Amino acid sequence: MFVYLSVNQFPPYSDRYRDSSLPTAERVEDLLAQMTLQEKIGQMALIEKNSISETDDIRAYGLGALLSGGGGNPENNTVAGWQTMVNGFTDISRTSRLGIPILYGVDANHGHGNIPGATIFPHFIGLGATGDVDLVERVARATAEELVATNISWSFSPTLDMPQDIRWGRVYETFSDDPALVGRLGAAYVRGLQNNAPKNTGTPSVLATLKHYVGAGGMQWGTSSNEDFSIDQGATPADIALLHDLYLPPFQESIQSGALSVMVGLNSWGDTKIAASSYLIQDVLKGELGFKGFVVSDWYGVYEISGNTYADTVTAVNAGVDMVMLPYNYKTFVRNVATAVQTGAISESRIDDAVRRILSAKFKLGLFDEIQNQVPTETVGSDEHHQLAREAVAKSFVLLKNDENLLPLSPTTQSIFVAGSAADNVGRQAGAWTVEWQGVDGNVIPNGVSILAGIQNAAGGNADITFNENGVFSPELGMADVGIAVVGEKPYAEGWGDTAEPTLSQEDRETIQNLSKVSKKVVVILVTGRPLVITDDIQNWDALGVAWLPGSAGEGIADVLFGTAKITGALPLPWPASIQQLPIATDGSTRDGSPVLFERYFGLKR
Ligand code: GLC
Repeated sequence: MFVYLSVNQFPPYSDRYRDSSLPTAERVEDLLAQMTLQEKIGQMALIEKNSISETDDIRAYGLGALLSGGGGNPENNTVAGWQTMVNGFTDISRTSRLGIPILYGVDANHGHGNIPGATIFPHFIGLGATGDVDLVERVARATAEELVATNISWSFSPTLDMPQDIRWGRVYETFSDDPALVGRLGAAYVRGLQNNAPKNTGTPSVLATLKHYVGAGGMQWGTSSNEDFSIDQGATPADIALLHDLYLPPFQESIQSGALSVMVGLNSWGDTKIAASSYLIQDVLKGELGFKGFVVSDWYGVYEISGNTYADTVTAVNAGVDMVMLPYNYKTFVRNVATAVQTGAISESRIDDAVRRILSAKFKLGLFDEIQNQVPTETVGSDEHHQLAREAVAKSFVLLKNDENLLPLSPTTQSIFVAGSAADNVGRQAGAWTVEWQGVDGNVIPNGVSILAGIQNAAGGNADITFNENGVFSPELGMADVGIAVVGEKPYAEGWGDTAEPTLSQEDRETIQNLSKVSKKVVVILVTGRPLVITDDIQNWDALGVAWLPGSAGEGIADVLFGTAKITGALPLPWPASIQQLPIATDGSTRDGSPVLFERYFGLKR
């Protein structure tokens, strides 16, 4: 039975915590001292917005945060619809006894991807290929502005995972397998997302989340705890040397840039779920690394520790998880934690530590202070942001083969045939976490420019551009000077992208063959979230470039093809020659000892 305090049992009220001139620590202590146990526990709950049975529960339980999981859009999926939804929830939280506002979080891992029309930047693997710290910071700032325009205060990004096996469905969410580069870009992303809001100009900061702590990307094939997956949510070998040399440095550098939250992953460290590891969370993250923000668990991960919700809740909170992404049942969570405190299974000091960390982040973000949000709604999908995305796309392009310096295309090129499943498909360019969790397949994203459209615009009147998705052209057109095949992967998210065979589809191979029959030279452009095994194909191509998952500014690819922008990109991770080489260690050594097709940081410059 959960004991509710009667009104006269509340501690005496003080409103000092509302004084924005006071140091954060003072505000936190003033507020914490007057919170009841239930109000403290409520702050530790993160709920998926569709799981709030009564919106008044946000007030009654003093809930700490809500999220939209991938695709968790409002009915009216527009900027106005998001503003109404998020403001609605936040306003209710402000009517609680102490008026503690919620955090509202989304996965803005390549822009505010939930909203049709928002700027979709390249997924992180493309940003990793740019190696450009300043660019990544600017992309993060633009992302923050589009989030703030819809009153969202939290993004579950940047990802700092270290991809070692391209069969994993989340390689495209990572920057690189080089911890030094991941640290630099992760820190830049935190600065852009969270720290650089110009003060008092109505553009509040957005809480950054370093994820997935720790060892994600190092899981072994076939160890997934999810029966539908093969490697995502799998087990990372508990190698202490790799922990300190490979996995921790990016977190350390990004924590030093001021990140205020860390998300623990759904993978295991050896045979221990990360959310259950007091060693990794309390001793290493909060101890060795000195992390002062709050730790949030991922999705339903806490309850996958043993399957006993009460025992798992106690284990995770005692291991150092401060906020639990439930994401469904907050009533059971509040009751379980209250029972654990009353029985001594969880100490009240652990609760106070968790709530201090959460409240500190909320005060530092300015959530208690009435910052007049002056970010105009037109910011979402603005031309300025689209041009930034276009710059990022061009800089992310990696040229792997270029016989006779075919690229950039000569201005005398007269006829160009374009083919391929990803040539006129902004949904494939964008990849997942775009409008829907698993992404959308097709030209259904407003403000999106397909790679084909970019080529058509760039060629202008200088060359005839003819498109056929399957690479079949009418014979009277004769031979094209150049055939461009834009092929690659359909959108996927998380374990749904795990595959034993990361390679081109038979359909794409046939398209390239068709095109080759009617083109004097063939350029292949890969729209892909990861390196693909193309060892036996590449000798038939005159040029090969990787666009990764470029997002809505497909014209950035035409910019490099026609020489408007220089080709500067470099592979952010090794490109395997075969599956037998996987996993590939970050020193480049392959499992079977054979040489990779292209080493990390390879990229022809033009
Ligand atoms: C997912 C992902 C995590 C994401 C979270 C919220 O399961 O693992 O990266 O931030 O849930 O959508």
